[in-house]
Amino acid sequence: MLSLIYIILFSAVIQRAQAWYQPVTANNTELLTWWHDTGEINTQSPVADGNVRQSGIYSVQVRTACGTKNFYYDSFVYEVIPANGMSNELVYATSYNQTQAWSSFLYSRDVTLKISRKSSPTNNVIIRPMTLNFSITYDDESAYISVPYSSHGYRFSVEFEDDLISLAPSGAMQPAHALLIFASPFEDASLVPKPDASTVIANPGRVLGLNTTTASTVIFYPGVYYFTGQDHMILSPNVTWVYFAPGAYVKGAVEFLSTASEVKATGHGVLSGEQYVWYADPDEGYQTASGANNNGLRMWRGTVGNSHQTFVLNGVTVSAPPFNSMDWSGSNLDLVTCMVNDYKQVGAFYGQTDGLEMYPGSIIQDVFYHVNDDGIKMYYSNVVAQNIIMWKVSVAPVVQFGWTPRNTENVIIDHVDVIHQAYQDASNNPGIFGSDNNYLFAPDGLSANHDTANSNMTVRNITWSNFRAEGPSACLFRIYALQNLDNIIIKNVWIEEFEPSSLNTTQSWMPVFYDYNNGKQVTVTNFVIEGVSVGNTTITANNAAIVGQIDVDPVYAASVLYE
Ligand SMILES: *[C@@H]1O[C@H](CO)[C@@H](O)[C@H](O)[C@H]1NC(C)=O
Ligand SMILES: *[C@@H]1O[C@H](CO)[C@@H](O)[C@H](O)[C@H]1NC(C)=O
Ligand SMILES: *[C@@H]1O[C@H](CO)[C@@H](O)[C@H](O)[C@H]1NC(C)=O
Ligand SMILES: *[C@@H]1O[C@H](CO)[C@@H](O)[C@H](O)[C@H]1NC(C)=O
Ligand SMILES: *[C@@H]1O[C@H](CO)[C@@H](O)[C@H](O)[C@H]1NC(C)=O
Ligand SMILES: *[C@@H]1O[C@H](CO)[C@@H](O)[C@H](O)[C@H]1NC(C)=O
Ligand SMILES: *[C@@H]1O[C@H](CO)[C@@H](O)[C@H](O)[C@H]1NC(C)=O
Ligand SMILES: *[C@@H]1O[C@H](CO)[C@@H](O)[C@H](O)[C@H]1NC(C)=O
Ligand SMILES: *[C@@H]1O[C@H](CO)[C@@H](O)[C@H](O)[C@H]1NC(C)=O
Repeated sequence: MLSLIYIILFSAVIQRAQAWYQPVTANNTELLTWWHDTGEINTQSPVADGNVRQSGIYSVQVRTACGTKNFYYDSFVYEVIPANGMSNELVYATSYNQTQAWSSFLYSRDVTLKISRKSSPTNNVIIRPMTLNFSITYDDESAYISVPYSSHGYRFSVEFEDDLISLAPSGAMQPAHALLIFASPFEDASLVPKPDASTVIANPGRVLGLNTTTASTVIFYPGVYYFTGQDHMILSPNVTWVYFAPGAYVKGAVEFLSTASEVKATGHGVLSGEQYVWYADPDEGYQTASGANNNGLRMWRGTVGNSHQTFVLNGVTVSAPPFNSMDWSGSNLDLVTCMVNDYKQVGAFYGQTDGLEMYPGSIIQDVFYHVNDDGIKMYYSNVVAQNIIMWKVSVAPVVQFGWTPRNTENVIIDHVDVIHQAYQDASNNPGIFGSDNNYLFAPDGLSANHDTANSNMTVRNITWSNFRAEGPSACLFRIYALQNLDNIIIKNVWIEEFEPSSLNTTQSWMPVFYDYNNGKQVTVTNFVIEGVSVGNTTITANNAAIVGQIDVDPVYAASVLYE
């Protein structure tokens, strides 16, 4: 019987969207996979409201190490395309010849993935980050990847040599048709609501009424839900928890109105912004904002009142953000803290699609970011961000701490793997660690006006450690110090190689800056570069200019220490 099923699966595997294909999913204590009956293979235009865009290229199947030999369960392969195929919007999309597919599952045991491609042999696989070093074997039609169990899960990119395209002008090689895998541990019971009188269970299809519900918890069980491109998920002030079950696919964007001490978004479902145009502005009928009012729809929005609020974000995959991914509103954002685990962002093809806010006290860990603007936003104090995989599109640095003078201290950003980046020129605000110029004086972040700092403020006690940048990279840092810098450590960073230096993206800069009121020069003290290498060469004081392309203003040079 098993072998019969296997034969059916085997022959069906590359034609899975056909109606007669019956997927076999797992739902047990070792493995949870899921499927959507309304998968639509379409790389050109928006899919029907009730459908889920499905890869027409990849199939992903999963087997636990102790499962029946050769029997693999199906795991749905989602796909996101630039601008959702809305032709008028493609102009706002970067990398518009690339698509991204992904598949997610929950597991509690080591697994083997079986990955197949339609009408191409599945050999020559590269897994990024390359340090994952999972074992890969091949047969005539599939690649088999062993993924050990981890309580942190794994988020990685599976790439095929014959699918790589060279992006001009950097020459970065990237998949034309990306395939991402998100392996997550099972959901902790505390993160799964139990339905009772205080919960509302959304009905698949067009969702209405969450803005007036008196329930405290909203549940999306497996199924497809949508809000249309002219509405979003405004949660009434009573709602403090929204749960996206594995297998839920919700086309919308979340806005909490509750000012309770905790609001939560949990679960391994998908929240997709695909129905929105770029910079959709709810105040303008969800059309692209007519001015630079910064009011674009966020995938995550909340409201802080007069007391502290923690935002718990756990498990969710966000796809196709139309603008900045998150912002809370309220007069004192220092009252917000984010606790983020196992978060994924894919399909950030539009400009201004950045990373999450990290308000004071936040802990952000186990994250995959596809981002096309500021990646890790280091704007607030007492923050830890760790175990982050980033696919950087072409704009703004991996870590951003500029745009306005700040008092920021006690931040650790640790274990960041940049698997792709493709900056094009200096106007992209390129680099791993970046502080762009004061937007009041230099809206593009680049102006040569260096009288834009506040000498009464300081960014201090910052550790950036264990960063890796695979492939061609922009500079190590490009820092316009908009305030004093004290005790900043860049430790254990590996840059595989630089982009061509003719692009003007690879030189590290730290020019001298002055207070915009009284002209006082800002100070830099104890800026440490330790264990940073480009290829096989470690940067030292002696070779910094050549190997590191580091150019610090002479005023600050003595404060930059190489260890
Ligand atoms: C797994 O099984 C549970 C219990 O029957 C069910 O509630 C849940 O919806 C299933 N999950 C999926 C993704 O099929
Ligand atoms: C996308 O592909 C088309 C057709 O091959 C090509 O003309 C265009 O330059 C490509 N765009 C980018 C951004 O690479
Ligand atoms: C990579 O994996 C192989 C076997 O799968 C092992 O022999 C090798 O030591 C590993 N390398 C690293 C750097 O972990
Ligand atoms: C709730 O949202 C719907 C649209 O989804 C809208 O028509 C209605 O006016 C809203 N109600 C309130 C009280 O805001
Ligand atoms: C919903 O919120 C309102 C306003 O805060 C409150 O008066 C009401 O008791 C809440 N309803 C429930 C069922 O909790
Ligand atoms: C520096 O930051 C780390 C991490 O946040 C913190 O543990 C330490 O106490 C800070 N040191 C000082 C002197 O503030
Ligand atoms: C910094 O403080 C000095 C002294 O109080 C003041 O003159 C100056 O305006 C301040 N700078 C800024 C940018 O506020
Ligand atoms: C790089 O800078 C040089 C000198 O300013 C300039 O001539 C050249 O056009 C720049 N190249 C790019 C790609 O911006
Ligand atoms: C770096 O070192 C490794 C191992 O010694 C060597 O195989 C590789 O060729 C070196 N790469 C460069 C660019 O020198």
